[in-house]
Amino acid sequence: MDRPFLDLKAEGPLRGVLRVPGDKSVTHRGLMLLALSEGEGRLLYPLKAGDTLSTAKAMAALGAEIAEEGPHFRVRGVGLRLKEPEDVIDCGNAGTLMRLLLGLLAGQEGLFAVLTGDASLRRRPMGRVVEPLRAMGARIEGREGGRRAPLAVRGVPLRGLRYTLPVPSAQVKSALLLAGLFAEGVTEVEEPVPTRDHTERLFLHFGLPLEKEGPWVRTRPAEPFPARDLIVPGDFSSAAFFLVAALLVPGSEVTLEGVGLNPTRTGLLQVLKAMGADLEWRVEEGEGGEPVGWVRARHSPLKGVSVDPSLIPLMVDEVPVLAAAAAWAEGETHIPNLSELRVKESDRVSAIAQNLRALGVEVEEGPDWLRIRGGGVRPGAVEPFHDHRIAMAFAVAGLPVGVRVYEPQWAEISYPGFFEDLKRLCAAS
Ligand code: S3P
Repeated sequence: MDRPFLDLKAEGPLRGVLRVPGDKSVTHRGLMLLALSEGEGRLLYPLKAGDTLSTAKAMAALGAEIAEEGPHFRVRGVGLRLKEPEDVIDCGNAGTLMRLLLGLLAGQEGLFAVLTGDASLRRRPMGRVVEPLRAMGARIEGREGGRRAPLAVRGVPLRGLRYTLPVPSAQVKSALLLAGLFAEGVTEVEEPVPTRDHTERLFLHFGLPLEKEGPWVRTRPAEPFPARDLIVPGDFSSAAFFLVAALLVPGSEVTLEGVGLNPTRTGLLQVLKAMGADLEWRVEEGEGGEPVGWVRARHSPLKGVSVDPSLIPLMVDEVPVLAAAAAWAEGETHIPNLSELRVKESDRVSAIAQNLRALGVEVEEGPDWLRIRGGGVRPGAVEPFHDHRIAMAFAVAGLPVGVRVYEPQWAEISYPGFFEDLKRLCAAS
Protein backbone atom coordinates (compact mmCIF):
# COMPACT_ATOMS: atom_id res chain seq x y z
CA MET A 1 0.00 0.00 0.00
CA ASP A 2 1.32 3.46 -0.89
CA ARG A 3 1.51 5.69 2.10
CA PRO A 4 2.15 9.42 2.06
CA PHE A 5 5.58 10.52 3.26
CA LEU A 6 7.72 13.61 3.46
CA ASP A 7 11.53 13.76 3.11
CA LEU A 8 13.20 16.49 5.14
CA LYS A 9 16.76 17.69 5.59
CA ALA A 10 18.05 21.01 6.90
CA GLU A 11 20.05 22.74 4.17
CA GLY A 12 21.35 25.29 6.63
CA PRO A 13 20.81 26.69 10.11
CA LEU A 14 17.33 27.53 11.42
CA ARG A 15 17.06 31.30 11.67
CA GLY A 16 14.27 33.67 12.44
CA VAL A 17 11.30 34.52 14.58
CA LEU A 18 8.15 32.41 14.73
CA ARG A 19 4.74 32.54 16.37
CA VAL A 20 3.36 29.06 16.82
CA PRO A 21 -0.42 28.37 16.71
CA GLY A 22 -2.59 28.82 19.80
CA ASP A 23 -2.44 26.55 22.83
CA LYS A 24 -4.46 23.37 22.42
CA SER A 25 -5.37 22.96 26.10
CA VAL A 26 -6.51 26.59 26.44
CA THR A 27 -8.48 26.44 23.18
CA HIS A 28 -10.43 23.33 24.26
CA ARG A 29 -11.26 24.89 27.62
CA GLY A 30 -11.99 28.35 26.20
CA LEU A 31 -14.54 26.90 23.77
CA MET A 32 -16.22 24.89 26.53
CA LEU A 33 -16.46 27.74 29.02
CA LEU A 34 -17.64 30.25 26.42
CA ALA A 35 -20.33 27.72 25.43
CA LEU A 36 -21.52 27.70 29.06
CA SER A 37 -21.51 31.50 29.31
CA GLU A 38 -24.29 33.97 28.53
CA GLY A 39 -23.94 36.38 25.61
CA GLU A 40 -21.14 36.58 23.08
CA GLY A 41 -17.39 36.38 23.53
CA ARG A 42 -14.38 35.90 21.30
CA LEU A 43 -11.65 33.34 21.57
CA LEU A 44 -8.71 35.23 20.10
CA TYR A 45 -5.92 33.37 18.23
CA PRO A 46 -7.24 29.92 19.13
CA LEU A 47 -5.73 26.73 17.76
CA LYS A 48 -7.64 25.70 14.64
CA ALA A 49 -6.49 22.12 14.22
CA GLY A 50 -8.00 18.63 14.17
CA ASP A 51 -8.42 18.33 17.94
CA THR A 52 -9.86 21.74 18.68
CA LEU A 53 -12.14 21.70 15.63
CA SER A 54 -13.62 18.54 17.18
CA THR A 55 -14.32 20.62 20.30
CA ALA A 56 -15.87 23.47 18.32
CA LYS A 57 -18.19 20.95 16.62
CA ALA A 58 -19.05 19.28 19.91
CA MET A 59 -19.96 22.57 21.59
CA ALA A 60 -22.04 23.56 18.54
CA ALA A 61 -23.89 20.23 18.81
CA LEU A 62 -24.61 21.16 22.45
CA GLY A 63 -26.18 24.45 21.41
CA ALA A 64 -23.38 27.05 21.22
CA GLU A 65 -23.16 29.22 18.11
CA ILE A 66 -19.57 29.27 16.95
CA ALA A 67 -18.45 31.37 13.99
CA GLU A 68 -15.00 31.94 12.54
CA GLU A 69 -13.95 35.56 12.48
CA GLY A 70 -10.59 35.75 10.69
CA PRO A 71 -8.15 33.91 12.94
CA HIS A 72 -10.60 34.05 15.89
CA PHE A 73 -13.77 32.29 17.02
CA ARG A 74 -16.87 34.19 18.05
CA VAL A 75 -18.98 32.14 20.45
CA ARG A 76 -22.55 32.75 21.54
CA GLY A 77 -23.01 30.73 24.72
CA VAL A 78 -25.96 28.54 25.62
CA GLY A 79 -25.72 29.24 29.33
CA LEU A 80 -25.34 26.61 32.00
CA ARG A 81 -28.05 24.37 30.57
CA LEU A 82 -26.76 22.75 27.39
CA LYS A 83 -28.96 21.45 24.58
CA GLU A 84 -29.30 17.71 23.98
CA PRO A 85 -27.21 16.78 20.91
CA GLU A 86 -29.14 15.25 18.02
CA ASP A 87 -26.45 12.74 17.16
CA VAL A 88 -23.40 10.98 18.54
CA ILE A 89 -20.57 13.41 19.38
CA ASP A 90 -17.35 12.49 17.58
CA CYS A 91 -14.35 13.56 19.67
CA GLY A 92 -11.95 12.50 16.88
CA ASN A 93 -8.44 12.06 18.30
CA ALA A 94 -8.96 14.44 21.26
CA GLY A 95 -8.61 12.85 24.71
CA THR A 96 -8.97 16.24 26.38
CA LEU A 97 -12.30 16.79 24.67
CA MET A 98 -13.74 13.41 25.60
CA ARG A 99 -12.63 13.49 29.23
CA LEU A 100 -13.62 17.10 29.92
CA LEU A 101 -16.94 16.65 28.14
CA LEU A 102 -17.81 13.68 30.35
CA GLY A 103 -17.43 15.99 33.34
CA LEU A 104 -19.38 18.77 31.69
CA LEU A 105 -22.31 16.55 30.65
CA ALA A 106 -22.61 14.34 33.75
CA GLY A 107 -24.65 16.93 35.67
CA GLN A 108 -26.80 18.22 32.77
CA GLU A 109 -30.05 16.83 34.14
CA GLY A 110 -32.04 14.81 31.61
CA LEU A 111 -29.61 15.35 28.74
CA PHE A 112 -28.50 12.21 26.86
CA ALA A 113 -25.28 12.11 24.86
CA VAL A 114 -23.06 9.47 23.29
CA LEU A 115 -19.36 10.18 22.85
CA THR A 116 -17.07 8.35 20.48
CA GLY A 117 -13.73 8.96 18.80
CA ASP A 118 -11.16 7.57 16.38
CA ALA A 119 -9.44 4.19 16.84
CA SER A 120 -6.72 5.71 19.05
CA LEU A 121 -9.20 7.48 21.34
CA ARG A 122 -11.43 4.40 21.61
CA ARG A 123 -8.41 2.51 22.99
CA ARG A 124 -7.56 5.11 25.65
CA PRO A 125 -8.51 4.67 29.33
CA MET A 126 -11.70 6.49 30.35
CA GLY A 127 -12.22 4.71 33.70
CA ARG A 128 -9.99 7.33 35.35
CA VAL A 129 -12.74 9.91 34.67
CA VAL A 130 -15.82 7.67 34.73
CA GLU A 131 -15.11 6.18 38.18
CA PRO A 132 -14.86 9.44 40.16
CA LEU A 133 -17.78 10.89 38.19
CA ARG A 134 -19.87 7.86 39.17
CA ALA A 135 -18.85 8.52 42.77
CA MET A 136 -20.50 11.95 42.28
CA GLY A 137 -23.66 10.14 41.13
CA ALA A 138 -23.05 10.25 37.35
CA ARG A 139 -24.76 7.77 35.02
CA ILE A 140 -22.24 6.77 32.39
CA GLU A 141 -22.18 3.50 30.46
CA GLY A 142 -19.70 2.28 27.91
CA ARG A 143 -17.57 -0.52 26.59
CA GLU A 144 -15.70 -2.60 29.16
CA GLY A 145 -17.97 -1.37 31.93
CA GLY A 146 -17.34 2.27 31.03
CA ARG A 147 -13.56 2.08 30.70
CA ARG A 148 -13.54 2.72 26.93
CA ALA A 149 -15.50 4.79 24.42
CA PRO A 150 -18.08 4.87 22.97
CA LEU A 151 -19.61 6.14 26.20
CA ALA A 152 -23.21 7.16 26.89
CA VAL A 153 -24.00 9.83 29.48
CA ARG A 154 -27.41 10.53 30.99
CA GLY A 155 -27.25 13.80 32.94
CA VAL A 156 -28.44 13.45 36.57
CA PRO A 157 -28.15 15.51 39.75
CA LEU A 158 -24.57 15.22 41.09
CA ARG A 159 -23.13 15.64 44.55
CA GLY A 160 -19.71 17.11 45.33
CA LEU A 161 -16.74 14.82 45.91
CA ARG A 162 -13.45 14.91 47.77
CA TYR A 163 -10.98 13.07 45.57
CA THR A 164 -7.23 12.51 45.38
CA LEU A 165 -5.96 11.93 41.84
CA PRO A 166 -4.39 8.46 41.60
CA VAL A 167 -2.45 9.46 38.45
CA PRO A 168 -1.16 12.97 37.69
CA SER A 169 -3.70 14.06 35.06
CA ALA A 170 -4.90 17.55 34.26
CA GLN A 171 -7.69 16.01 32.20
CA VAL A 172 -9.11 14.08 35.16
CA LYS A 173 -8.75 17.11 37.45
CA SER A 174 -10.48 19.31 34.87
CA ALA A 175 -13.32 16.85 34.25
CA LEU A 176 -14.09 16.78 37.98
CA LEU A 177 -13.92 20.57 38.32
CA LEU A 178 -16.32 20.97 35.39
CA ALA A 179 -18.69 18.40 36.93
CA GLY A 180 -18.37 20.29 40.22
CA LEU A 181 -19.97 23.36 38.60
CA PHE A 182 -23.19 21.30 38.40
CA ALA A 183 -22.89 19.31 41.66
CA GLU A 184 -24.46 20.00 45.01
CA GLY A 185 -21.96 21.15 47.63
CA VAL A 186 -18.21 21.34 47.25
CA THR A 187 -16.05 19.37 44.81
CA GLU A 188 -12.45 19.08 45.93
CA VAL A 189 -9.58 17.54 43.99
CA GLU A 190 -6.13 16.87 45.42
CA GLU A 191 -3.19 16.50 43.11
CA PRO A 192 -0.17 15.00 44.84
CA VAL A 193 1.94 16.14 41.85
CA PRO A 194 1.13 19.45 40.10
CA THR A 195 -0.23 19.24 36.54
CA ARG A 196 -1.20 21.97 34.06
CA ASP A 197 -3.54 24.46 35.72
CA HIS A 198 -5.31 26.07 32.73
CA THR A 199 -8.77 25.06 33.98
CA GLU A 200 -8.20 26.77 37.30
CA ARG A 201 -6.92 29.95 35.62
CA LEU A 202 -9.85 30.00 33.21
CA PHE A 203 -12.41 29.49 35.98
CA LEU A 204 -10.97 32.65 37.58
CA HIS A 205 -10.98 34.49 34.21
CA PHE A 206 -14.71 33.76 33.80
CA GLY A 207 -15.53 34.44 37.47
CA LEU A 208 -16.41 30.80 38.26
CA PRO A 209 -15.97 29.49 41.81
CA LEU A 210 -12.43 28.31 42.47
CA GLU A 211 -10.22 28.05 45.53
CA LYS A 212 -6.73 26.66 45.85
CA GLU A 213 -5.16 25.46 49.06
CA GLY A 214 -1.85 23.62 48.83
CA PRO A 215 -2.46 20.53 46.65
CA TRP A 216 -6.28 20.96 46.85
CA VAL A 217 -8.48 22.70 44.27
CA ARG A 218 -12.13 23.37 45.11
CA THR A 219 -15.18 24.45 43.20
CA ARG A 220 -18.91 24.88 43.86
CA PRO A 221 -22.11 25.17 41.82
CA ALA A 222 -21.86 27.84 39.11
CA GLU A 223 -24.17 30.84 38.79
CA PRO A 224 -24.94 32.05 35.26
CA PHE A 225 -21.92 34.05 34.06
CA PRO A 226 -21.34 36.49 31.19
CA ALA A 227 -19.12 35.75 28.18
CA ARG A 228 -15.69 37.43 28.11
CA ASP A 229 -13.05 37.60 25.41
CA LEU A 230 -10.09 35.33 25.94
CA ILE A 231 -6.67 35.56 24.26
CA VAL A 232 -5.06 32.18 23.64
CA PRO A 233 -1.25 32.15 23.98
CA GLY A 234 0.99 30.23 21.55
CA ASP A 235 1.32 26.56 22.45
CA PHE A 236 4.56 25.82 24.31
CA SER A 237 4.25 22.18 23.24
CA SER A 238 4.40 23.29 19.58
CA ALA A 239 7.23 25.75 20.27
CA ALA A 240 9.25 22.89 21.80
CA PHE A 241 9.84 21.28 18.38
CA PHE A 242 11.52 24.43 17.04
CA LEU A 243 13.55 24.98 20.21
CA VAL A 244 15.04 21.50 19.94
CA ALA A 245 15.50 21.78 16.15
CA ALA A 246 17.51 24.98 16.69
CA LEU A 247 19.64 23.30 19.38
CA LEU A 248 20.46 20.42 17.00
CA VAL A 249 21.25 22.18 13.70
CA PRO A 250 24.64 23.99 13.70
CA GLY A 251 24.51 27.77 13.39
CA SER A 252 20.82 28.05 14.32
CA GLU A 253 19.14 30.80 16.32
CA VAL A 254 15.36 30.82 16.60
CA THR A 255 13.06 33.02 18.68
CA LEU A 256 9.50 31.97 19.51
CA GLU A 257 7.26 34.91 20.33
CA GLY A 258 3.88 35.11 22.05
CA VAL A 259 4.29 31.67 23.56
CA GLY A 260 2.58 30.47 26.74
CA LEU A 261 5.12 30.08 29.56
CA ASN A 262 2.87 28.69 32.26
CA PRO A 263 5.27 26.99 34.70
CA THR A 264 3.07 23.87 34.77
CA ARG A 265 4.00 23.40 31.08
CA THR A 266 7.67 24.34 30.76
CA GLY A 267 9.54 21.51 32.51
CA LEU A 268 11.38 20.90 29.21
CA LEU A 269 13.24 24.22 29.53
CA GLN A 270 14.79 23.06 32.81
CA VAL A 271 15.85 19.70 31.39
CA LEU A 272 17.34 21.22 28.22
CA LYS A 273 19.23 23.79 30.33
CA ALA A 274 20.70 20.95 32.41
CA MET A 275 21.79 19.33 29.12
CA GLY A 276 23.76 22.49 28.30
CA ALA A 277 21.29 24.20 25.94
CA ASP A 278 21.76 27.88 25.15
CA LEU A 279 18.21 28.99 25.94
CA GLU A 280 16.82 32.31 27.11
CA TRP A 281 13.25 33.26 27.84
CA ARG A 282 11.24 36.06 29.35
CA VAL A 283 7.65 36.32 30.54
CA GLU A 284 6.32 39.59 29.13
CA GLU A 285 2.60 39.64 29.87
CA GLY A 286 -0.27 37.59 31.23
CA GLU A 287 -3.37 37.10 29.07
CA GLY A 288 -6.44 35.47 30.56
CA GLY A 289 -4.30 34.68 33.57
CA GLU A 290 -1.70 32.85 31.45
CA PRO A 291 1.96 33.98 31.44
CA VAL A 292 3.14 34.74 27.90
CA GLY A 293 6.58 35.68 26.57
CA TRP A 294 9.41 34.73 24.25
CA VAL A 295 11.98 31.93 24.16
CA ARG A 296 15.23 31.94 22.16
CA ALA A 297 17.32 28.86 21.35
CA ARG A 298 20.80 28.75 19.82
CA HIS A 299 22.61 25.68 18.53
CA SER A 300 24.39 24.02 21.46
CA PRO A 301 26.38 20.88 22.10
CA LEU A 302 24.24 18.84 24.52
CA LYS A 303 25.16 16.29 27.16
CA GLY A 304 23.05 13.42 28.50
CA VAL A 305 21.25 13.79 31.84
CA SER A 306 19.16 11.81 34.26
CA VAL A 307 15.78 13.55 34.25
CA ASP A 308 14.16 14.36 37.61
CA PRO A 309 10.95 12.25 37.75
CA SER A 310 8.96 15.12 39.28
CA LEU A 311 9.52 17.18 36.10
CA ILE A 312 7.72 14.68 33.83
CA PRO A 313 4.14 15.91 34.57
CA LEU A 314 5.37 19.43 33.71
CA MET A 315 6.57 18.26 30.29
CA VAL A 316 4.37 15.25 29.66
CA ASP A 317 3.82 16.09 25.96
CA GLU A 318 7.47 17.08 25.36
CA VAL A 319 9.08 13.71 26.10
CA PRO A 320 9.18 12.69 22.40
CA VAL A 321 11.09 15.85 21.46
CA LEU A 322 13.32 15.48 24.53
CA ALA A 323 14.19 12.02 23.17
CA ALA A 324 15.22 13.73 19.90
CA ALA A 325 17.58 16.01 21.87
CA ALA A 326 18.91 13.04 23.87
CA ALA A 327 19.73 11.17 20.64
CA TRP A 328 22.11 14.00 19.70
CA ALA A 329 23.59 14.57 23.17
CA GLU A 330 26.94 13.26 24.28
CA GLY A 331 26.45 10.36 26.71
CA GLU A 332 23.33 8.71 28.07
CA THR A 333 19.98 10.22 29.00
CA HIS A 334 17.67 8.45 31.41
CA ILE A 335 14.00 9.45 31.33
CA PRO A 336 11.95 7.94 34.21
CA ASN A 337 8.29 8.13 35.27
CA LEU A 338 6.85 7.44 31.80
CA SER A 339 3.88 5.17 32.60
CA GLU A 340 1.39 7.87 31.48
CA LEU A 341 3.10 8.01 28.07
CA ARG A 342 1.94 4.46 27.39
CA VAL A 343 -1.69 5.70 27.22
CA LYS A 344 -1.33 8.84 25.10
CA GLU A 345 -2.41 9.12 21.42
CA SER A 346 -0.01 6.19 20.90
CA ASP A 347 2.13 4.16 23.29
CA ARG A 348 4.76 6.86 23.20
CA VAL A 349 7.42 4.91 25.12
CA SER A 350 7.38 2.22 22.48
CA ALA A 351 6.98 4.68 19.56
CA ILE A 352 10.03 6.64 20.77
CA ALA A 353 12.15 3.49 21.16
CA GLN A 354 11.19 2.12 17.72
CA ASN A 355 11.85 5.39 15.92
CA LEU A 356 15.16 5.98 17.68
CA ARG A 357 16.27 2.50 16.56
CA ALA A 358 15.13 3.28 13.00
CA LEU A 359 17.56 6.23 13.13
CA GLY A 360 20.40 4.05 14.41
CA VAL A 361 20.23 5.13 18.06
CA GLU A 362 20.80 2.67 20.88
CA VAL A 363 17.91 2.72 23.33
CA GLU A 364 16.75 0.60 26.23
CA GLU A 365 13.03 0.56 27.02
CA GLY A 366 11.71 -0.30 30.50
CA PRO A 367 8.08 -0.49 31.61
CA ASP A 368 8.11 3.22 32.50
CA TRP A 369 11.53 4.50 31.47
CA LEU A 370 13.87 5.02 28.54
CA ARG A 371 17.66 5.06 28.44
CA ILE A 372 19.00 6.70 25.30
CA ARG A 373 22.62 6.47 24.18
CA GLY A 374 23.36 9.78 22.45
CA GLY A 375 25.91 10.64 19.79
CA GLY A 376 23.77 11.51 16.77
CA VAL A 377 21.42 9.78 14.36
CA ARG A 378 21.71 8.16 10.92
CA PRO A 379 19.36 9.08 8.07
CA GLY A 380 16.28 6.86 8.16
CA ALA A 381 12.49 6.62 8.00
CA VAL A 382 10.18 7.23 10.96
CA GLU A 383 6.66 6.11 11.78
CA PRO A 384 4.19 8.42 13.61
CA PHE A 385 1.99 5.55 14.89
CA HIS A 386 -1.04 7.82 14.26
CA ASP A 387 0.39 10.32 16.76
CA HIS A 388 0.97 14.01 15.95
CA ARG A 389 3.74 14.57 18.47
CA ILE A 390 5.69 11.49 17.37
CA ALA A 391 5.56 12.72 13.74
CA MET A 392 6.88 16.18 14.67
CA ALA A 393 9.48 15.02 17.24
CA PHE A 394 11.09 12.57 14.83
CA ALA A 395 11.08 15.05 11.96
CA VAL A 396 13.23 17.15 14.32
CA ALA A 397 15.43 14.21 15.37
CA GLY A 398 16.34 13.44 11.74
CA LEU A 399 16.39 17.01 10.43
CA PRO A 400 20.20 17.51 10.59
CA VAL A 401 20.96 14.36 8.50
CA GLY A 402 17.78 13.71 6.50
CA VAL A 403 14.65 11.83 7.48
CA ARG A 404 11.59 10.35 5.81
CA VAL A 405 8.41 10.93 7.86
CA TYR A 406 5.55 8.61 6.95
CA GLU A 407 1.97 9.92 7.25
CA PRO A 408 3.10 13.49 8.03
CA GLN A 409 -0.56 14.59 8.01
CA TRP A 410 -0.85 13.43 11.64
CA ALA A 411 0.82 16.72 12.62
CA GLU A 412 -2.44 18.47 11.71
CA ILE A 413 -4.04 17.21 14.93
CA SER A 414 -2.25 20.00 16.80
CA TYR A 415 -0.21 21.97 14.23
CA PRO A 416 -1.45 22.44 10.67
CA GLY A 417 1.45 23.93 8.70
CA PHE A 418 4.15 22.48 10.97
CA PHE A 419 6.29 21.13 8.14
CA GLU A 420 5.96 24.36 6.14
CA ASP A 421 7.11 26.39 9.17
CA LEU A 422 10.01 24.01 9.79
CA LYS A 423 11.13 24.08 6.15
CA ARG A 424 10.87 27.86 5.97
CA LEU A 425 13.08 28.35 9.03
CA CYS A 426 15.91 26.17 7.74
CA ALA A 427 15.45 26.28 3.99
CA ALA A 428 14.97 22.50 4.17
CA SER A 429 14.54 20.47 1.03
C1 S3P B 1 -3.95 17.85 28.65
C2 S3P B 1 -3.42 17.10 29.66
C3 S3P B 1 -2.40 16.06 29.46
C4 S3P B 1 -1.73 16.20 28.10
C5 S3P B 1 -2.72 16.44 27.00
C6 S3P B 1 -3.52 17.69 27.24
C7 S3P B 1 -4.99 18.84 28.97
O1 S3P B 1 -3.04 14.80 29.52
O2 S3P B 1 -0.96 15.05 27.81
O3 S3P B 1 -2.05 16.55 25.74
O4 S3P B 1 -5.31 19.69 28.12
O5 S3P B 1 -5.51 18.78 30.10
P1 S3P B 1 -3.27 14.02 30.92
O6 S3P B 1 -4.21 14.78 31.75
O7 S3P B 1 -3.83 12.68 30.52
O8 S3P B 1 -1.89 13.90 31.51
